[in-house]
Amino acid sequence: MKQSFDFLDAGNETHFRSWRAEKLRRSAGLTNDPVQIGSLEGPDRSEALTVLNQCKHQNFCIYQVTDPGDPTERSSLKLRAFAKSFGLCIAEDHPFAGDDGVVDLCASSKPSKVGYIPYTNRPLNWHTDGYYNSEGKKIRSFVLHCVRSAADGGNNQIMDPEIAYLRLRDENPEFITALSHPNAMTIPENVEPSGKVRPASCGPVFSLDPETGDLDMRYTARKRSVIWRDDDVTRAAVDFLNSILVSADPHIHTVALEPDQGIICNNCLHNRTGFDSQSATLSVRHLLRARFHNRISGA
Ligand SMILES: [Fe+2]
Repeated sequence: MKQSFDFLDAGNETHFRSWRAEKLRRSAGLTNDPVQIGSLEGPDRSEALTVLNQCKHQNFCIYQVTDPGDPTERSSLKLRAFAKSFGLCIAEDHPFAGDDGVVDLCASSKPSKVGYIPYTNRPLNWHTDGYYNSEGKKIRSFVLHCVRSAADGGNNQIMDPEIAYLRLRDENPEFITALSHPNAMTIPENVEPSGKVRPASCGPVFSLDPETGDLDMRYTARKRSVIWRDDDVTRAAVDFLNSILVSADPHIHTVALEPDQGIICNNCLHNRTGFDSQSATLSVRHLLRARFHNRISGA
């Protein structure tokens, strides 16, 4: 369904006030207890509607698979079937993905993965996935599914981008205009260990999904390898956003995924704590991740 509120029209206070009131009312009515899903590969209609309702009103849903089935079967194929239930069919083309388009997120000493924090046990700062991608390869949704959790740590925090938008606009509507500028955030060129060059990526933090008019967000809280537009309002907006992300905002949710639990989301802001820092060997923490260029839809 087409979004009726124009997120980028920072001058229309009346529309914003009515969207804001409805957003907070809907969000307050949700619980973040995991939604129970019988089988990952085939949620029934009632389960799927519950997932969709959570995603519609807060852009993410935590789920728990109650009947995981044969543990020797490949969870990645079940995960793709689950994603397909929500209109997520074509996974991104990722260098570390298997044939089924799913990436194994676990600590790795493979030379090709050295230097990439997701494949270590170190913390990951707040970001949206694929913030370094070009406009044409924007990540709009992902599913993160836990196979094995860490002995300690490895927790995620997650925040609905629309709430981040709301907080920024409450503070100063000019923050929205600054972060919607086409040159707001540049990620410099990167040479991967394979020698492949990922070109520089320049674009806005906030933009609209061209199909639905929903809010897309592209962001990283990292200080290195990101160049912000040289403008006082942009700098103030980034500082304010970072202050929200380290605050006790009630809309920041902490998630400690257990095996057979996962997150499906419209590329929400998220981070990860470090894990198993005392382990002498690589951690057993193992998550599966599939990312898509379109948003969650269905039913
Ligand atoms: Fe991520």
